[in-house]
Amino acid sequence: MPTLTTKTQSIHYIDHGERDTLLLLHAFPLSSAMWKPQIPALSAVSRVIAPDARGFGGSRPVADAVLTMDTIADDARTLIDALGISRVVIGGLSMGGYGALAFWRRHRAKVRAMILADTRATPDSDEGRTGRHTFATKTLELGAEWVVEQMASKLQRLSPIPEVDQMLRSMILATQPEGVAAAQRGMAVRPDSTAMLAEIDCPVLVIVGAEDSLVPPVRARKMADAIPNARVVEIAGAGHISNLEQPEAFNEAVVDFIRSLG
Ligand code: MLT
Repeated sequence: MPTLTTKTQSIHYIDHGERDTLLLLHAFPLSSAMWKPQIPALSAVSRVIAPDARGFGGSRPVADAVLTMDTIADDARTLIDALGISRVVIGGLSMGGYGALAFWRRHRAKVRAMILADTRATPDSDEGRTGRHTFATKTLELGAEWVVEQMASKLQRLSPIPEVDQMLRSMILATQPEGVAAAQRGMAVRPDSTAMLAEIDCPVLVIVGAEDSLVPPVRARKMADAIPNARVVEIAGAGHISNLEQPEAFNEAVVDFIRSLG
């Protein structure tokens, strides 16, 4: 996999296919490897680029103490600029969706369309923020195995599908605790993007797993209702990580969307 090295960092990324570019931002605490089941189908209709956020997968160094969603968005911008890409379809799942919303906030002239999967525009509650800080501290104390245990209870044993469970486990265990802690602190300070939804004037695809307990379909539909040109695809038999749990349905939704852009 290629790596872009700048003066301050190296960004590791997947790059497949040709034509217009789909830039995919991964969920927490995973890496671009989560998009592997998407690459063959999606690279048939688009170039697909999927970077690892700082401290995840192969990107280095870990962000300072806080990996903000703005940093994720700015790193994506650095990458597309370096590759000479003028506009992208920006997509993200969960934390990646927070990054995609930040990308719109900061670099909207670069956005052709958006895909927001299993994600939300609302910020954390005070309780949620406190929980993230505790999670960050414990991660630094107890390491990646502890993160797996925590996520297992949050995501129902990581996934009810054994192969997906295994994939998630390996991605989490490969992540540096400092990266996990920084991302938790960054998600805690992400702004409320709800008011901005009305300004998103490009085509948007909202995807949600029918059994997503973190972002239930009713919340995903409410977010889509606030975006002028959004469509929703609900994926049956999928939970929070819908792209891994039902890759064919997820790919079909994205391929249809990309084709509809003309
Ligand atoms: C994710 O899947 O990226 C996380 O659940 C996002 C979050 O913790 O809000």
